[in-house]
Amino acid sequence: MAPGHSIVLMACFLVGSSIGENWQAEACSSLLYRSTSSESDRKFSPSSRKGERLRAAQFRERELDHLYHRRLQLHPLKIHQIREGFVHDHDSDHETDSRSHVLSHSVSLLEVSFGEADALLAFKDGIGTYSEGALDDWTPGKRSEYCSWTRVTCICQLHVTALHLSSLDLTCLLGPSLSNLSYLEELHLDQNYLGREIPPDLGRLSRLRILNLENNRLYGSIPKDLGNLTSLQVLNLGCQGSWFNGTIPEELGQLLELRFLNLGDVNNADLEYTSFRLGKRNDLTGTIPRSLGNCTKLRYLDFYGNYFLTGVIPEELGKLIHLEYLSFEDNNFTGAVPHQLGNLTLCKYLNFRDNKLQGYLPVGLANLSRLIVLDVGLNFFTGNLVHVSSTSWSELSWFSAFWNSFTGTFPELLLSCRNLVMLDLSFNNFSGNLPADLGRLSSAKIIFIEYNMFGRELPESLTNISLILEL
Ligand SMILES: *[C@@H]1O[C@H](CO)[C@@H](O)[C@H](O)[C@H]1NC(C)=O
Ligand SMILES: *[C@@H]1O[C@H](CO)[C@@H](O)[C@H](O)[C@H]1NC(C)=O
Ligand SMILES: *[C@@H]1O[C@H](CO)[C@@H](O)[C@H](O)[C@H]1NC(C)=O
Ligand SMILES: *[C@@H]1O[C@H](CO)[C@@H](O)[C@H](O)[C@H]1NC(C)=O
Ligand SMILES: *[C@@H]1O[C@H](CO)[C@@H](O)[C@H](O)[C@H]1NC(C)=O
Ligand SMILES: *[C@@H]1O[C@H](CO)[C@@H](O)[C@H](O)[C@H]1NC(C)=O
Ligand SMILES: *[C@@H]1O[C@H](CO)[C@@H](O)[C@H](O)[C@H]1NC(C)=O
Ligand SMILES: *[C@@H]1O[C@H](CO)[C@@H](O)[C@H](O)[C@H]1NC(C)=O
Ligand SMILES: *[C@@H]1O[C@H](CO)[C@@H](O)[C@H](O)[C@H]1NC(C)=O
Repeated sequence: MAPGHSIVLMACFLVGSSIGENWQAEACSSLLYRSTSSESDRKFSPSSRKGERLRAAQFRERELDHLYHRRLQLHPLKIHQIREGFVHDHDSDHETDSRSHVLSHSVSLLEVSFGEADALLAFKDGIGTYSEGALDDWTPGKRSEYCSWTRVTCICQLHVTALHLSSLDLTCLLGPSLSNLSYLEELHLDQNYLGREIPPDLGRLSRLRILNLENNRLYGSIPKDLGNLTSLQVLNLGCQGSWFNGTIPEELGQLLELRFLNLGDVNNADLEYTSFRLGKRNDLTGTIPRSLGNCTKLRYLDFYGNYFLTGVIPEELGKLIHLEYLSFEDNNFTGAVPHQLGNLTLCKYLNFRDNKLQGYLPVGLANLSRLIVLDVGLNFFTGNLVHVSSTSWSELSWFSAFWNSFTGTFPELLLSCRNLVMLDLSFNNFSGNLPADLGRLSSAKIIFIEYNMFGRELPESLTNISLILEL
């Protein structure tokens, strides 16, 4: 048996014994698949390349699940906060209190005409089924008490400001009736089964700060009227499925208050690691509008997994200097990474994986000192990774260059990444000997370097690192 193979098997045991029963078989078979592929298999056709990617990606995600099990702690509240874009503003909760109650009696209810109650009832009419009891008290008979209906929040017992309708198994239609709730600031309809196109009328909700429609069954396009929601801070349209297949309207660039924009699938793990997604994506098409570069308050921007988004990454995105999370993963983007992205100095998570990007990585990436995850895998990048001798990547814990055309010797700049846990340089064209002080990566748990042209000598400094190596 070749030395490479025994190391793979050892790693297999290591993974199998630590991930838990169910993972073991699959993780191992994916590794074994890799270890037995022969030299000739290196010339993958596009389709087998995809197959290989899936296996490797599945394995790695699971492995990370394990590695970061302690740190992730997917607390429900945390997940909720990410979905809602971290900007849920507790001070602006307009729960009814005694003061507003008094005020409400000073307002003539006749003047109000219950238009908002009618809008809620019209919305309920469009709903097919809902989880038990959820909307039972929304009835014409209680029309005058709409501010005390469940999941309705009002200001001054008068105007509906928030609807909390997440995870109620709502089916059928998301109708336009809610657009008559002109005081609405928060609309939470995520994790339901609502179908149809997004009603353009929602663009009338000029006070809306949060629009969360994640994980429904919406189809068609994103209406350009959403660009009228100039108070919007959170827009979450992720996980609708393949029928949500329109384009990204350039009018979204008018949303100057936007902090959070999800057009793919929210990464629930944390800002830090890829580990858990709902798995249902969108199939948005077309290009990223340059106008999104105007949304300079954005902290989270996710295009993950639309497959068909294409064209170049607009250099205007380099203006989004508050971004902490930026993912282009799993699309059809082409061209080079614009050097302006080197300005995103607050970025912690940056993912280009699985596109058709090419050229050199911009040297400015080396200046992104907050990076925790950087993934450039499955593209056509060339050159020696980043053409600088040192980086500011002191926080970087996850780096993948998997399956590109990088060349040159082992990128020494990685040796200064003291927090690196996972490093993947596999399936490239690196050559030369591994650096003698590779063991400086003392926090590394896994280093993938197979399918390169590295020399066969293993540095002695490696003794404390479990490697998956195929030289
Ligand atoms: C909004 O309210 C107006 C007037 O009350 C009504 O005519 C209209 O049908 C409502 N729109 C929707 C979409 O329910
Ligand atoms: C959004 O704004 C445009 C341009 O001002 C206007 O034509 C359109 O009717 C507005 N949409 C809605 C739903 O109000
Ligand atoms: C979106 O999906 C629908 C239903 O499958 C299809 O009829 C339509 O042509 C698609 N639109 C685009 C732009 O791909
Ligand atoms: C938004 O961006 C576009 C394209 O980058 C630009 O032409 C436009 O003037 C910008 N609008 C605002 C309001 O900044
Ligand atoms: C990806 O982009 C290329 C170049 O723009 C185009 O030729 C190809 O059809 C696109 N593929 C998909 C699946 O959209
Ligand atoms: C963005 O980066 C470019 C070079 O990459 C630089 O010329 C420009 O001044 C930067 N802008 C800001 C706002 O830092
Ligand atoms: C990176 O940072 C250094 C030091 O702050 C600066 O001199 C250099 O211009 C930056 N490089 C890029 C490409 O932004
Ligand atoms: C790797 O380098 C060799 C020799 O320079 C070259 O022939 C080969 O095409 C390169 N392979 C890739 C995938 O870049
Ligand atoms: C490996 O770990 C042991 C115990 O922690 C330590 O004493 C030793 O110096 C380490 N070896 C290397 C090469 O880092």
